[in-house]
Amino acid sequence: MSQEPTLRPVLGPLALTTLGIGSVIGTGIFVLTGTAASQHAGPALVISMIIAAVACALAGLCYAELAAMIPIAGSAYTYAHASAGQFVAWIIGWDLMLEYALSASTVAVGWSGYLVSFLRDLGVQLPPALTAASGSAAVGPAGEMVPGGFNLPATVIVLLVTALLVIGISQSARANTVMVIIKVAVLLLFIALGAAYVQRENLTPFIPPNTGTFGEFGWSGIMRGAAIMFFAYIGFDAVSTAAQEARNPQRDMPIGMLASLAICTVIYIAVAVVLLGIVPYRQLNVPDPLAIGIDATGLTWFSPVVKISALFGLFSTILVQLLGQSRIFYSMSRDGLLPELFGRVHPRFRTPHLSTMLTGGVVAVAAGTLPLRTLSQLVSIGSLLAFTLVCIGVIILRRTQPDVPRPFRVPGVPYVPLLGALVCVVQMAALPWATWKRLLVWLALGLAIYFMYSRRRAGEKRADMAAAGRAVASAGVSS
Ligand code: ALA
Repeated sequence: MSQEPTLRPVLGPLALTTLGIGSVIGTGIFVLTGTAASQHAGPALVISMIIAAVACALAGLCYAELAAMIPIAGSAYTYAHASAGQFVAWIIGWDLMLEYALSASTVAVGWSGYLVSFLRDLGVQLPPALTAASGSAAVGPAGEMVPGGFNLPATVIVLLVTALLVIGISQSARANTVMVIIKVAVLLLFIALGAAYVQRENLTPFIPPNTGTFGEFGWSGIMRGAAIMFFAYIGFDAVSTAAQEARNPQRDMPIGMLASLAICTVIYIAVAVVLLGIVPYRQLNVPDPLAIGIDATGLTWFSPVVKISALFGLFSTILVQLLGQSRIFYSMSRDGLLPELFGRVHPRFRTPHLSTMLTGGVVAVAAGTLPLRTLSQLVSIGSLLAFTLVCIGVIILRRTQPDVPRPFRVPGVPYVPLLGALVCVVQMAALPWATWKRLLVWLALGLAIYFMYSRRRAGEKRADMAAAGRAVASAGVSS
């Protein structure tokens, strides 16, 4: 028997759903709602959100089938390894870094925005150049916009979360549960209190006319809004990365994923209707749009509550995204595609500590140096690509491995997965060309690493394991 420490199976269905919600509710609803409504969709952002939710629900069904069928840490990467082989798996694993690692950076930038706003309310003004990345605007002492330099709070929060994750999954899951309760409660309170202040004028015209530029209002704006808000739903699939820490993965992972997605969708749509109903959408291009919404109601006591909750809530999102990333690295390293250190588990904490620290370091630098817009759109396009591939993966596996038991089955194959893939591709098409270029550069870099390193090493690892297997067999024969 191997003496190597392994991951600990402690998570039940409730913990997995909480893990999903913890990962889903974050910068998307707390920050991007304002950006996407003010720049792209206006009140019709509600339609954008429904489109993004449909894409996630269809992809979510596909994720659920694969997660229950192949309950091994590593999410879409693992499914691709099982269905389409090592090369496709590498591409997905590489692409998933955009979804997990980079979204942790994105959420950290959102966290920083709420921290700066909260501290300003307390009369503490951080040096603006240290509150936003170069290339994005920071808020100056008198509320004016000044150039950013480095986002220090975003970097610090990522490093703190990394430390918590190194200490252990069980403690982390508990901390996550408390924070999930806080952020869900505050969003529900926002809906309940804000509903009375909704004004019909703010929601008319519901679809502002297109400005003449693709993606600025009208239907192209709604589609771009959907692609941006898609970010807000990302994370339910993080449940699947914790497969080896689940007590009964076959039953509980589909529950965790689909329940967290459903709960978040309902909350999001209600928050968007209330927010856009109480503030004219043009005023929402700010780092803390929900706080602006509350200011408009005059309920001054509620504003610090929202800001503090956002701080806790976004913290838990960063936690789950980083957790997911380190588990994907764990799987990729086990298959030999990444160096051994990504798969090493700490003997006492039983967590992949080296992988977590390395990921945390890179995510912290990205959070400090890249603007929110660049980060969030890159995460959206990367995740949409991963979701598309997962949908197609379901169809392929039904054909190539029809007899493997599937505790959960997507209804209406191949139509439902095909529709899921289509909705994802349409959203990708609505993103700007600059985002596409970044995605292509990222994928090209991944291909270079695969052909220069990973392919050879994975082959060597397979050969080593086969040799070890033969040695064990012959020892068994001779004894
Ligand atoms: N869905 C997550 C968020 O909105 C990534 O922050």
